[in-house]
Amino acid sequence: MSTPAALWTLFATLLIGLSYFAGVTFVLGLLWRLVGYLRTPMPYPAALTPAPTTDAGAAARVAGDVLFFPSLFKADKALWAGAWVFHVALWVILIRHLRYFTYPVPGISVAMSSVALWAGYVFGVAILFLFWRRLALPRALYVSGVPDYFALALLGLIAATGILTKYWLHVNLVDVKAFTLGLLTLRPVAPPAHPLFLVHFLLVIGLMLYFPFSKLLHAGGIFFSPTRNQPFDVQKCKKR
Ligand code: HEM
Repeated sequence: MSTPAALWTLFATLLIGLSYFAGVTFVLGLLWRLVGYLRTPMPYPAALTPAPTTDAGAAARVAGDVLFFPSLFKADKALWAGAWVFHVALWVILIRHLRYFTYPVPGISVAMSSVALWAGYVFGVAILFLFWRRLALPRALYVSGVPDYFALALLGLIAATGILTKYWLHVNLVDVKAFTLGLLTLRPVAPPAHPLFLVHFLLVIGLMLYFPFSKLLHAGGIFFSPTRNQPFDVQKCKKR
């Protein structure tokens, strides 16, 4: 075997190992954090009033928070717009990405193709806006730390390498799918030898390792916020 071929085999093997390590860390890390939230005692009613008085109402309030970010809307309209557009574009991209991991491809992923043209760009512009805002507004700059910039930079680089792969240096999608389905079915094959795709994929691995231990976990933590997920129960309050 020639030296370049041997080095490529070594790299592909390491990447496959790293992919499984990231997948296991992501799933176990998420479970560990979410079980931690579930086991945190909540002995006192802490609903933020005015609050719904039934469990169904509280569930609807959390669903509203997840979908529309009403508290952020009241606090800062520009930030709300940037954050909302960012999350919608991210969901469009992720649903469209299902085509690289599934066979047959779900209809919703196929349907997303028509809006995919703008989703990647909108996502990138939203990240630039959120980054700019942290630097430009003294109030935001004051409360921003390295993790805030790191998360935005990581997502921005993932978007940039994805967009460049899609519109500039095309990758063979059949090879991509053989690689991802190989990983998922535990019959791994080498990834496509495409530098931009490999950077895109490595950055996603970085995100998977970082996600459960970072502020990005608000994506799961929001469901456990006692001030939002509890109904307002007058009887319980009287007893205390
Ligand atoms: C958080 C995770 C991810 C984000 C935010 C992301 C983002 C993006 C974006 C914005 C694009 C360009 C627009 C588009 O095609 O939708 C893209 C393209 C692409 N992404 Fe990702 N990506 C992620 C994960 C992955 C993973 C895990 C793979 C592994 C297969 C992957 C493979 C690709 C490929 C192959 C393209 C080029 C598509 C084409 O040529 O049609 N992405 N990605």
